[in-house]
Amino acid sequence: MTKTNTKALRERALRVTPLGVNSNFRFWGDEITPYVKKAKGCRLWDVDGKEFIDYRMAFGPIILGHAYDEVDEKVIEEIREGVLFAMTGELEIAVEEMMIDMVPGLESLRLACSGTEATMHAVRVARAFTGRELILKFEGNYHGLHDHLLWSTYAPAEAYGNSRSPIAIPGSSGIPESMGNLIITLPFNDREVFERAMYVYGNSIAAVVTEPCQGNCGAMLPAPGFLELVQSKCREYGALFILDEVKTGFRIGNGGAREYYKLKPDLMTYAKALGNGYPAAALGGRRDVMDIIGQGVAQGGTYTNNKPGMAGAWATLKLLKEKPILKTIEKRGKRLMDGIDRILTEEDIVHCMNGYPSMFSFAIGIEKSPNQRAWNESDKDMYLEIMEAMFERGVMPDHDAREPWFLCYSHEEKDIDETLTVFRDSVKAVKK
Ligand SMILES: Cc1ncc(COP(=O)(O)O)c(C=O)c1O
Repeated sequence: MTKTNTKALRERALRVTPLGVNSNFRFWGDEITPYVKKAKGCRLWDVDGKEFIDYRMAFGPIILGHAYDEVDEKVIEEIREGVLFAMTGELEIAVEEMMIDMVPGLESLRLACSGTEATMHAVRVARAFTGRELILKFEGNYHGLHDHLLWSTYAPAEAYGNSRSPIAIPGSSGIPESMGNLIITLPFNDREVFERAMYVYGNSIAAVVTEPCQGNCGAMLPAPGFLELVQSKCREYGALFILDEVKTGFRIGNGGAREYYKLKPDLMTYAKALGNGYPAAALGGRRDVMDIIGQGVAQGGTYTNNKPGMAGAWATLKLLKEKPILKTIEKRGKRLMDGIDRILTEEDIVHCMNGYPSMFSFAIGIEKSPNQRAWNESDKDMYLEIMEAMFERGVMPDHDAREPWFLCYSHEEKDIDETLTVFRDSVKAVKK
């Protein structure tokens, strides 16, 4: 298929915006960066009219489906009465009540517009609450683009140094070097290294921040007991435990990873699936911690209760509460995950499966991947070749092996069947 429109739009885009995209993550390379026309359900069409089964789901937010009628109708109804007031209205309070009802231990929260904002505010709250400045995070975890946490996200593993004394690598030029004094980065799932770091620095640490699984690095799951260890060491040293549920929240269960693993983090952050694509985010948790906001601690923003976001969240949460949506996604995702596992095994490709059925990944060439250092040994080139073969055949997971495959409620059994056929054909084509 000719890519005439893609090429033309890319040329226009390059004249007005760096790399021709509005987020670095959307740039895949000169020839393969896609440009989208529209999407509905689990399907997406590029500007040349090519149809794909979408497994990127906008990096996770689309939990029900693209252009989901029940959500969009609520948004349209609400925005007819104004979108922004710099005043509090009933809709946002209803959203907060629903979230509190769905997530155990979410006692009080504040709204935001993106995951980046939510984690940035959570870090500030933790620093203010504890009176400490150091933050501990794990290599390969991504918590948004702000300078406080954009460390050791995507660097090559060699740059991280020895796992006993890791080097924190800023994720961008422009992040002040001095901020590196406020962050400790460690390999995920390494109990010994974590315990030692807490022994040495624990009394100065404001918060340990983690994704429950490495949702930005191959969906690697926490080893049994690892998150519990993080939680108990935080308690022991008086640091706060921040669970970043931006990808897992309202996706792996109505109560997110907090409920799934029966954890009691002090703060949690949400975005993505909360609004089925509309801009809604939040940070919340213990009431005594959250109550510090307003007592000399700043949080807010002009758009924090924007009506499209709030209406999107209201309608999404209502559906998640009323119907077994996440269970259905889980069932279909498991079939897809098992099918991929089986095909790779039949084709004699060494691999390991990672993540949850609604958000999973696989790594090629390695048998297990507990953290980014191990995952870096995987065959990313072969993964990319398989993805490119899939794009040609009309299925679109992300091209980047770090990014999980996301499912939504609109992926039906027949879409899973079609995907598995395409996957098998793609693997065979690449092997040839
Ligand atoms: C775990 C996690 N936290 C935070 C963020 C940042 O969210 P946003 O892109 O909405 O700023 C992301 C984005 O992918 C994420 O995966």
